[in-house]
Amino acid sequence: MTRPEALIWDDHYAVGIAEIDDEHRALFDEYNKIISDNAETTDPALVKAAVLMLEQYAERHFHNEERVMIECDYPHYQNHKMLHELFLANLVYLNGALAEGQDAYYELCRFFRTWLISHIMIRDAEVAVYAGHHAAPTD
Ligand SMILES: [Fe+2]
Ligand SMILES: [Fe+2]
Repeated sequence: MTRPEALIWDDHYAVGIAEIDDEHRALFDEYNKIISDNAETTDPALVKAAVLMLEQYAERHFHNEERVMIECDYPHYQNHKMLHELFLANLVYLNGALAEGQDAYYELCRFFRTWLISHIMIRDAEVAVYAGHHAAPTD
């Protein structure tokens, strides 16, 4: 199996909301850490810890992102929220696979990497564009 490669953050991943971009960048860092922690051999304990970290971080991040959507009255809020729930459901599935003794490392990497690229660049970017045009007046 080919070893996953690091994912280098650059500005084309930025959606333009500083708080959200900072959180996305931290998720890129976590992805790269998972890869470097498992560079030699995949360790089930490390993979389990990575899934746990992701669960906690993703929940906080999704909460923040959903708040941005609510604040600008984003019309696709329910859909987007469902995609977040799907992400968390995938982590539950991976946790189950780990508990059964499966090597879920490659699946975790594939799933996380695809998510980072596609969800951020398409779905989150749509929210940021909408929020930029529909921000509540400041005065
Ligand atoms: Fe996001
Ligand atoms: Fe999102």
